[in-house]
Amino acid sequence: MKALLAVQKVSVHFGGTKAVHEVDLEFEAGRLYGLIGPNGSGKSTLLGAMSRLTRLTAGALVFRGDAYTHLTPEAVARLGVRRTFQTVRLLPEMTVLDNVKLGADARLAGRSIARNWLFPAHTARVEKQGARAAAEAIERLGLTAVAREFPLNLSYGTQRRVEIARALAAQPSVLMLDEPTAGMTREERDEVGSLLRELSADGLTQILVEHDVPLITRVCDHLYVMNAGQLIASGDDPAAVVQRPEVQEAYLGRRAHAVS
Ligand SMILES: Nc1ncnc2c1ncn2[C@@H]1O[C@H](COP(=O)(O)OP(=O)(O)OP(=O)(O)O)[C@@H](O)[C@H]1O
Ligand SMILES: [Mg+2]
Repeated sequence: MKALLAVQKVSVHFGGTKAVHEVDLEFEAGRLYGLIGPNGSGKSTLLGAMSRLTRLTAGALVFRGDAYTHLTPEAVARLGVRRTFQTVRLLPEMTVLDNVKLGADARLAGRSIARNWLFPAHTARVEKQGARAAAEAIERLGLTAVAREFPLNLSYGTQRRVEIARALAAQPSVLMLDEPTAGMTREERDEVGSLLRELSADGLTQILVEHDVPLITRVCDHLYVMNAGQLIASGDDPAAVVQRPEVQEAYLGRRAHAVS
């Protein structure tokens, strides 16, 4: 099967730091991919490169068979390749609902004013779809009761769920999540895990960066492991991949205990 999205020999170097070095990855439609690796192994940098927010030193990015290596981050988002960030990036002066709507509005942003004016019926339809997508995302993430609250009045775990809702409201084809469950309770993590499986059942392609290895092995269809900027292991049986010696060693080099 041809990959929906491919990363081909991608490198991102910051001066002498090879944050990502000659990484090749493929993502097939509708599957949930895990991406793990010790701190500083290049996971977030890779997501930055894939969303075009971070400049590539070398390599190519391909979506639906076309290179998008030179598109702007906004154009990549409009293609349907969306990400969430490792830290909360909500607008504190806007309600949960309005923050989530921003995700949906991103589909309209970038269309010229003239185009929106020339095709008002289409624009109205896209706006209506966006409002519906925002409402659905709010419900899906269990945020209905707090839709009119401001983010800072909510727990950190809830703020992170708002971020996932905002990304979903854009109705992406590929959703990249950078440690979405960091700072959440075990119960909240398991709920997010179940939600990601549901989204997968609906056909959404997902890339999940996480340190929560039990969660990763439970929900992912395929696992990629990075260390020091390079891909060191991958496979369709995440629990088995985690047990491989090269993966255990990568974690042992950084932490007092191996990953389990
Ligand atoms: N903007 C930048 N400028 C210089 N170096 C950077 C920059 N961003 C990341 N790095 C470096 O690139 C390497 C990879 O960092 P990255 O944040 O991608 O790792 P990570 O796998 O996401 O780690 P973590 O699990 O801690 O989030 C690190 O050595 C980091 O210090
Ligand atoms: Mg990171």
